[in-house]
Parts: sequence; structure tokens; C-alpha cells
Amino acid sequence: MSRFLLVTPDTDFASRASRAISGGLTGTLHVFATAELPETPSEMLTPAAAGPSDLEPAEVIIFGPGVTVAAALTLAAVFDLRFPEISLVLVAEADPDMALAAMQSGIRDILDPQADSETIRVRLEHACRTSANRRRVTEGVGGAGGGAPAGTASTVIVVASPKGGVGKTTLATNLAVALGRIAPMSTVLVDLDAQFGDVASALQLEPEHTLTDAVGRAASQDSMVLKAYLSVHHSSIYALCAPHTPAEADRISGDDIAHLLTQLAGEFRYVVIDSAPGLGEHTLAALEKATDVLLLCTMDVPSVRGLRKEIDVLDKLKLVRRNRRIVVNFSERSAGLSIRDIEATIDASVDAVVPRSRQLAQSTDAGEPLLQQTSRGRPAKALQAIADFYDPSAKVPVRRGQHKRVEAQ
Ligand SMILES: Nc1ncnc2c1ncn2[C@@H]1O[C@H](COP(=O)(O)OP(=O)(O)OP(=O)(O)O)[C@@H](O)[C@H]1O
Ligand SMILES: [Mg+2]
Repeated sequence: MSRFLLVTPDTDFASRASRAISGGLTGTLHVFATAELPETPSEMLTPAAAGPSDLEPAEVIIFGPGVTVAAALTLAAVFDLRFPEISLVLVAEADPDMALAAMQSGIRDILDPQADSETIRVRLEHACRTSANRRRVTEGVGGAGGGAPAGTASTVIVVASPKGGVGKTTLATNLAVALGRIAPMSTVLVDLDAQFGDVASALQLEPEHTLTDAVGRAASQDSMVLKAYLSVHHSSIYALCAPHTPAEADRISGDDIAHLLTQLAGEFRYVVIDSAPGLGEHTLAALEKATDVLLLCTMDVPSVRGLRKEIDVLDKLKLVRRNRRIVVNFSERSAGLSIRDIEATIDASVDAVVPRSRQLAQSTDAGEPLLQQTSRGRPAKALQAIADFYDPSAKVPVRRGQHKRVEAQ
């Protein structure tokens, strides 16, 4: 049984939230019908007029429409420190600057004030799950052990390829930015190219903490510490960047990575993983935890042959058998191979094709993922369509026996 606390003078939003909870969530809603926030968490957690259902611990607090955002963020920061297991949701119009401040205050999700009751239900369900996972970790019950925490519905996507320079980082950063729109603050991009990863430069981040800290003793025992080690990006996503020096990568084991990804899957709706070329120890550990994989190749024979071998290895190891998708990057009409040739060689369908594009190259190199911009060109459409594979509300047409290929040539 969950307890939801909502502060808002907006009766219309309150009734949508109430319908959301009665329409599929087990829990009770306590509404503070005011724009005034209590000054301390305890005034909110034990209201004077507490009824029997209010004795349940609060799992989700919603700062609703009408509440001043600045005041909500101040109170959220106190809650985040004292009651980190409570999920905090802010209802406000999307605005990148405000989203960044909200993330820094410990807000877990931002909801549109006009959201319908079904959308509210889905987001509150996720907030409950995150709270339950955090409670499990703080109470030391299971959560930090192996395997995905019970009740986690996280999508863990590994972007992999046998060869280097085929566009993994470009795809992973754009995918994370796109998924950050579906799940702001609940998307994390992990740079598992531990020696030479460049997610930090692809997102213009200067991380204080890196993968090295994230697998250290403090963070591996406490997901709150881990979260503090993530870098915040202004597209409302978190990033865990590669170590500052290649030598640090040697001290990170496959087990460290498996444990880290289990922790992140307990906290985030989407975990996007950029990997080093090939099937090294870290990539294999990530593939064992993955729900999905995006395999990349380019339109040349060595790249396609490499992909064929990688698929064979994944088959032998029985890794991510169901949700594998193949992406051909740098496509161009003048290439020696056609998409059909590639499909014949790898004996699998190609799911998406991203064209060679100077604009895309420039955006990655400038540290501004294309999907962060307002580009509507073919590369942006192809990248967005790949992100749509993971959006439950997007209608991705299905093709004979397999997925429909997303093509933008
Ligand atoms: N479709 C594309 N068109 C043009 N340039 C691209 C395209 N995709 C990626 N690039 C550029 O190619 C270069 C390599 O891309 P990226 O770094 O994403 O590859 P990678 O697979 O992550 O490489 P590595 O294996 O070294 O980590 C970058 O400069 C990037 O901007
Ligand atoms: Mg890369």
C-alpha cells in the first residue's frame, strides 16, 4: 500500500491524480488543497488531521500546479537529504533551466500540468517502484545484491559494435537525450568505454566523479551515494562518465559493472550504455544485464563481417536473444553494399538506417547531440525513430515477422 501526498490548490489536477491512483495503483492519496507548502517535512508527513491511512509511510510527494516552483525545490532538497526513499514529483511546464535545478534538488520526475490521468498513473507507478527499491536498499533487504530488483521495469539498452568509430557514442548520446524527454530525470547514460570513452565530450560535461567512483565501496553500497556521483546534463538526463585516465579501467571488473547496472536499473526507467568496440569484459557484463541491445555496423565488408561474428557470439552465450536491433550507420547510396546484402550476410533484418551526415558529425563533435537541437532533417528523424522503439506510447509499425525498418536515406 502506497501513500501519495499532493499539494495543490488545483482541484482539477487533484481529481485527475485521484482517478490515476484509484484506476490501477494500490494506495491512498492525501491532498493538501493549498498553494502554501509546509515549512518542514514533518508537517507534511504527519498532518494534524491525519486519518488511519495516513499512518502508512509516504512513498511519493507531488508538488502540484499552483505551488511556487522555487519553494517546492527548497523543500524537495530537504526531503531528498532526510527522506531519500520518498520519490518527489514536480508538476510544472517543461523548461530546461528549471529541470536542471529540479534534478539538483532531488526531484525525480516532472509532470505536465495538463497530463491526463493515465499518464499520471504511469508516472506515479514508476515513482512508487523507485521508492520501493530505495527503501529496500536503505533497509538492506536484497536490493544491492545480484539480479534486477523485484518490480523493476527498467529498460537497459546496450549500444555495441565489433568495430570502433561506427557511431556508438553518437547513437547512445542521442538516444539518451530522446529518452530523457519521455522520462526526464529517470534516464541515465553510462559510458562503459572505460579506457577511451568520450560521452563527457559528446555532452560537454566535466565530470567531478566517474565510473571509478561509481563502482567504489561507498556508491556500491548505497544508491544515494551513487546518484550523487552522476553528472547532470541540461537535457534532464544523468550521465556516468568514463574514468579520467585509461589505467583506472583495469581496476574495474565485470562484476563491478553488473552490480552498478543492477543499482541503476533500480533507480532509472532508462539506462543507456555506450560501450567500447568488441566484446570485452565490461560489455559482456552489461549485455548480461541488458533488456535490449542496439548493434551497429557501417556499409563496408569488414564492419558487416564483424557484426556477423558478434551476433554468433551473442547467440552462443544466449545473450539478449529477444530485443536485438541492428542499426546501419553512415549509409549512403554510393556504398558498395546494399542493405539487402548486409541482411543476407548477418542473416537478420536491419531495423534502422542512419545516413552519413555532416550535420550529425558536427553535432557530436561540438558536444550538442542532434536530438537536443530542433533539427528535422533525415538524420534526426532516423535517430528519433530508433528512440521510438523504446517509447511505449510511440506507434512503431511492425513488418513481416520482424520490426519495420526505420529508413532515412
Ligand atoms: N551518420 C554519421 N554521419 C557522419 N558522421 C558520423 C555519423 N555517425 C557518427 N559520425 C561521426 O563519426 C565519428 C565516430 O563516431 P562515434 O564516436 O559516435 O563512434 P564510436 O563507435 O563511438 O567510436 P569508438 O568505437 O571509437 O568509441 C564522430 O566524429 C561522429 O561525429
Ligand atoms: Mg565511442
